[in-house]
Amino acid sequence: MPTQPPVSSPSEARSPGAAPARPERDGTILEARNLTKRYRLGKREVDALQDVSLKVRRGEFVALMGPSGSGKSTLLHLLGGLDRPTSGEVVLDGEVVSHLSDRDATRLRREKTGFVFQFFNLIPLLDVYENVALPFTIAGIDPRHGEAAARIKDVLELVDLVGRERNRPDQLSAGEQQRVALARALVAQPAILLADEPTGNLDYATGGEILDGLWRSCDERGQTIVLVTHDARAAAYADRVLVVGDGKIRDEIELGRRAEHDARPLIMRLALLGL
Ligand SMILES: Nc1ncnc2c1ncn2[C@@H]1O[C@H](COP(=O)(O)OP(=O)(O)OP(=O)(O)O)[C@@H](O)[C@H]1O
Ligand SMILES: [Mg+2]
Repeated sequence: MPTQPPVSSPSEARSPGAAPARPERDGTILEARNLTKRYRLGKREVDALQDVSLKVRRGEFVALMGPSGSGKSTLLHLLGGLDRPTSGEVVLDGEVVSHLSDRDATRLRREKTGFVFQFFNLIPLLDVYENVALPFTIAGIDPRHGEAAARIKDVLELVDLVGRERNRPDQLSAGEQQRVALARALVAQPAILLADEPTGNLDYATGGEILDGLWRSCDERGQTIVLVTHDARAAAYADRVLVVGDGKIRDEIELGRRAEHDARPLIMRLALLGL
């Protein structure tokens, strides 16, 4: 795991008015085809993923749920181009991620993905505004003006941090820090937002604020999200839950889009599956 998460670069802000990538005919924005991932630890081999295929539609909120060690993070890393599969391929917004050179994979990741992890990975010396502005700064765009400033204001409103722009991370609560991380992941309007246990380090109420932020970005702005969690409460925000077990997708539970995120129906469905 890198100490700093990859930060998306705002490709669209460089060319305002550019047409968005053409949606695939069936609305698929992310596809995994027969992914396997084998780790070698000395002489021992671990098949972390075995023949995993999935599709995510544009604007969809998908949760990957499963026990510790089942392969959730491995799958998320492959989907976001942070790591390469042993075999199989990932197609993100029309590009085959797993076949790109390292340089092109980095570009694709920057342009098309936003990541949120369990630990917030903010830069301690930068204030809230500067942390959220990082994707623009990296891309050589002045974040104080124009489209960049408008996008930053917009995501700060989304995560309810307006008025806290000058605070440094150590002057924020854990939940506020994670909201900064979420804003930074969203500011470049990535094709997909990938979140790995973003509430794992937070208490119940604060975790709920992050889930609400994810939900609003999806429901109000059409953000496509893949959320890794072992928590049914978090997974209950998703449109669809993929149950991961022993490196495979074991079951799929379609919850549908709804404003109510009561986890009980999902818990009942999981219980019926014997999970
Ligand atoms: N870099 C690595 N080298 C060797 N084995 C690894 C590596 N990363 C993961 N694994 C192994 O692959 C399997 C899947 O791990 P992964 O981290 O994807 O699980 P997970 O579902 O995210 O678990 P958790 O809920 O604990 O985060 C585990 O057996 C793990 O030990
Ligand atoms: Mg994990």
